Amino acid sequence: VLRTPFTEMVGCSVPIQLAPMGAVGNPELAAAVTGAGGMAMLATARLPVPVVAALLDGLAALGAEPAGINVLMPYLDLEVVELGAARVKVVDFYHGPPDTKLVDSVHGGGALAAWQVGSVDEARAAVDAGCDFLIVRGVEGGGRMWGSAPLWQLLDGVLEAVEVPVLAAGGLGTARHVAAALAAGAAGVRLGTRFLATQESTAHPLWKEAVIAARPEDTVLTDAFSVWWPNGPEPHRVLRSAVEAAGKLEGEVAGEAHVFGEVIPLPPFCAMPPNRDATGAVEAMALYAGESVAAVHSVEPAGAVVRQLAEGAERLLSAWGR
Ligand SMILES: Cc1cc2nc3c(=O)[nH]c(=O)nc-3n(C[C@H](O)[C@H](O)[C@H](O)COP(=O)(O)O)c2cc1C
Repeated sequence: VLRTPFTEMVGCSVPIQLAPMGAVGNPELAAAVTGAGGMAMLATARLPVPVVAALLDGLAALGAEPAGINVLMPYLDLEVVELGAARVKVVDFYHGPPDTKLVDSVHGGGALAAWQVGSVDEARAAVDAGCDFLIVRGVEGGGRMWGSAPLWQLLDGVLEAVEVPVLAAGGLGTARHVAAALAAGAAGVRLGTRFLATQESTAHPLWKEAVIAARPEDTVLTDAFSVWWPNGPEPHRVLRSAVEAAGKLEGEVAGEAHVFGEVIPLPPFCAMPPNRDATGAVEAMALYAGESVAAVHSVEPAGAVVRQLAEGAERLLSAWGR
């Protein structure tokens, strides 16, 4: 049994957390992960309050517990923070300095507060702000980046510096990775890319195929897809093939996203990734992916992924103990 201070704190049975991943995450994916014993986070960036409320209704209807919502600081909406704090187990934050008032507001609503951090100093600041646990995120991970440290260096430094439970994230995707993170002292792992190509994920099928085909060296840290990103050009890890394809686009539009019944034309190098009903040059859109693509070989149900990882990690750790 992989019990850790994290599983005890949030009330799940395996120390595996579904990362918040924009529109890729949805209540069905969350329920598949929690149904297999993990914990699920859903992203809220750019979502209006009624849409977040509907997502939370979806989680409740499917009995997806424990679950939480993620707030990306460039899109901070205090109403979303309050809503999440009142209705889910965890509210966590990323891409901005830790903030005591936000943590207090989460605690006031009755939820646990966490911060995804990219440096040891930020980890200390998050603990000083009152966070219950942290996620350390290395540059190997997929998506927008805040911080520039590789995962194992960062994990080592943060575990030395703080007492709260710490999840490891960034480039992790196999049972060996999970076992290694736990053996190093992490209280669990956060996985994004590993769940991107699951059956329940709403990533575009072409994005899933590209993740399955990619090797770790086919991902790249770049600031290319920064159009519409509120902070301007900032690093993120995507498939290199997407940067190359976007570079060959001609014209003002890469394709269209369909979001809440609205058709939104996406400019070339737009930060918004393609969900399943995007149309146009999907291969040239922001195909976020971590070095953990190496662990993705087919489109599987998310629950099966959680079970394989937990059972595999447990086997490795008990063999090592002997
Ligand atoms: C498509 C995608 C979207 C993401 N969106 C968010 C987000 O909205 N908020 C956030 O805190 N992290 C986001 N992340 C980063 C994850 O929280 C996590 O750190 C990362 O996925 C870990 O690396 P991995 O992809 O190699 O597992 C995203 C990652 C991906 C791949």
